[in-house]
Amino acid sequence: MKKILVTGGAGYIGSHTTVELIQAGYEPVVIDNFIYSDGSLITGIEKITGKKVNFHKGDCRDKEFLVELFKTQGPIDGVIHFAALKSVGESVQKPLLYHQNNIESLLVLLEVMKQFNVRDFIFSSSCTVYGQPDHIPVNESAPFKRAESPYGATKQICERILEDSFVDGFRIVSLRYFNPIGAHKSSLIGEVQFGNPNNLVPYITQTAAGWRDKLTIFGGDYSTPDGTCLRDYIHVTDLSVAHLLALKFLDSRKEDTLYEAFNVGTGQGVSVLELVKGFTHATGVNVPYNIGARRPGDVEKVFADPKKANSVLGWNAKLSIEDALLDAWNWQKKLTK
Ligand code: NAD
Ligand code: WQD
Repeated sequence: MKKILVTGGAGYIGSHTTVELIQAGYEPVVIDNFIYSDGSLITGIEKITGKKVNFHKGDCRDKEFLVELFKTQGPIDGVIHFAALKSVGESVQKPLLYHQNNIESLLVLLEVMKQFNVRDFIFSSSCTVYGQPDHIPVNESAPFKRAESPYGATKQICERILEDSFVDGFRIVSLRYFNPIGAHKSSLIGEVQFGNPNNLVPYITQTAAGWRDKLTIFGGDYSTPDGTCLRDYIHVTDLSVAHLLALKFLDSRKEDTLYEAFNVGTGQGVSVLELVKGFTHATGVNVPYNIGARRPGDVEKVFADPKKANSVLGWNAKLSIEDALLDAWNWQKKLTK
């Protein structure tokens, strides 16, 4: 059984990936400092899998904590690094906090991995590294445009650090997630909001649940078929599976050192209005909305060219947008209860 350290595993994507890891026979060691989570998703993972989660509360910037963990849990076969602050808006208000947390976490983690000769590493990157690309669907060789936010800058800087540090004997995969949505089909884990949501789908489900009067669609005058922005929405379970395939990819490679980045998206551009209508179609629940002003910093359209992940990792999105919206709604209903 391979032991995988999962940082930020009490959060949204980390918890879903931990479920997939356990169900595929891995032995995850989960850490989180609970800055944007609590124990609830850990409990959910245990209910889904019937297994106790090997969880340790701690911070990725805390070298002593990590050294002790690697000593007592070792040998660790690989690391999936989800832990980060991820709110674009908050990063504009607190840029130094974002740089400090997201970059120092990575640096300390790599240092400790090197000390314990742990070499396989999967990084949570983001489509935000591309900014508004010149060509869509965007592929992995597109140049990074200037990041729209400090959060986006941290992802670009972390990828650069990883690209540089591959010479230290690391074998690294960066997964550039597009827009993860939905929840586990059991409704036992999903996205927990600490304060206002960061993303569109929680706004849709909270409006549908009556927590909010109306959804505001940010801009109806973009040059897209219906005037609203296009994104590539991907079910969080499909995204989680990509991490398992990335681990298998690293396992299958004989190189002492490597760095590869993969887009993880469906390849399908979906507009905000299509998503709102898709939600009503999937759930039968109406979402009152109005079209408001554009949101500063939004790119007009971005969706993935996922061919590299399809062919090299053998990864394909299997779940539909409707599956994701229904799962998001079932999770919201559970939160409402
Ligand atoms: P999340 O906030 O639900 O999970 C991140 C977890 O990391 C939280 O539980 C938080 O408490 C923890 N954390 C933060 N800093 C930490 C530190 N220094 N030490 C230990 N734990 C720490 O976010 P998520 O949506 O699950 O995102 C996971 C990763 O995926 C992040 O790196 C994020 O930037 C990236 N990502 C997310 C999205 C998205 O839309 N959700 C899209 C692209 C990339
Ligand atoms: C999607 C669309 C909004 C809320 C963000 C990060 C990105 C990545 C994914 C982490 C946009 C519109 C939204 C609302 C709306 N995360 N919208 N009304 O901005 O594509 O990407 O999450 O790496 O880095 O920037 O996602 O869900 O915020 O927005 O009309 O109330 O929904 O304008 O077109 P985004 P989002």
